[in-house]
Amino acid sequence: MNNAMNGAKEERDYFLSVLSTFKNYRERSLNYINYKEKCIESLPHNHKELLEKYKEDLNTYKKCVEKNAELIPLVLQHAHKIFDNFYSNDEGEQPEKIGSLSDDRVQVVFKQLMRDWSDLGANERKQCYDPIIEEILENYPEDINARGHFNILVPGAGLGRLAFEIASRGFSCQGNEFNLFMLVVSYYVLNLCTDVDQYEIYPWIHQYCNYLKPDGQMTSVKFPDIKPSPTPDSKFSMTAGDFLEVYMDSDEWHCVATCFFIDCAPNVVQFVERIYMILKPGGLWVNLGPLMYHYSGIHNEKSVEPSFERLCEIIKKIGFVMEKCKTGLKTKYCQNPQSMLQYEYDSVFFVCRKPIEVKPEESMT
Ligand SMILES: C[S@@+](CC[C@H](N)C(=O)[O-])C[C@H]1O[C@@H](n2cnc3c(N)ncnc32)[C@H](O)[C@@H]1O
Repeated sequence: MNNAMNGAKEERDYFLSVLSTFKNYRERSLNYINYKEKCIESLPHNHKELLEKYKEDLNTYKKCVEKNAELIPLVLQHAHKIFDNFYSNDEGEQPEKIGSLSDDRVQVVFKQLMRDWSDLGANERKQCYDPIIEEILENYPEDINARGHFNILVPGAGLGRLAFEIASRGFSCQGNEFNLFMLVVSYYVLNLCTDVDQYEIYPWIHQYCNYLKPDGQMTSVKFPDIKPSPTPDSKFSMTAGDFLEVYMDSDEWHCVATCFFIDCAPNVVQFVERIYMILKPGGLWVNLGPLMYHYSGIHNEKSVEPSFERLCEIIKKIGFVMEKCKTGLKTKYCQNPQSMLQYEYDSVFFVCRKPIEVKPEESMT
């Protein structure tokens, strides 16, 4: 097999392992609860008695898992279509061994559904997406009909709500995402959900700690909170793939909007450079989020973690003019309001412009 065929096979096997992880969600989640029940069974008799009500709770959690699992076959039905059947196994060949990936890959998607497409997520969206949308609106025409030829890119789009909101305001907007779990579910929400509050899920059913009452773990949400189907004239799209591999053309975008994204690179400098390159002269980069540096401390990853001050210096050296910069924006990410543990980021928000005139020394790099 040549390299290209090897690459395609690897990609297809990975895609199949994503589907397999989704398919195993129900069994693996229930097995986990069964294991907990066995733990209780192994305890002294009086402890078992004292934990009787907790055992009942575990039983109810199983029902929530079942309810989450109902969504999966509906979503997977359409998964092959998303990539024009590129990953379909038309030779009928069985991949030797399709393993499953970590269970939390599916659990994260349930939480992201809360953030992007439920009423309960409205507060997080207000904190995180509104400042970006308001900045975009300030910079482009007031007339919604005059916005269509401004093209805006949202890399690391998750389940696509920010990109969708930008497109709904008349812009031509493209979300980009490389996580197949997100892509499979966002395709379903964006193209196939027909009704508001069509589905009910339990996003935190797999988080077992920090509740005042059993109900906290069973916090449910309905989605989608609005009917997201793009209209025929809407200029909204999603692309699949690594931002650094998909976007290589210079001077293409009027605006790049990043939310909780730039810290997803092992080398944030590469993201900043690429955003600079793909923006048109005069183009805008609007960013909001923390500096969690997702690759930090991961074995064999060449992760760099500059502080915000250092990052600002880098951004300016690359050529951007920083027009706005705020720190301390209180922002949450996929938080269960009923948990005793509440993470809140003091995020940074900044707006940078690629100058119209590129200095001669920059054009040589
Ligand atoms: C922390 S999440 C933020 C999602 C969304 N922007 C939000 O605020 O809810 C970061 C997203 O970026 C995606 N991502 C990370 N690195 C990426 C890359 N190189 N190319 C495309 N997507 C990427 C991840 O899969 C994830 O969905």
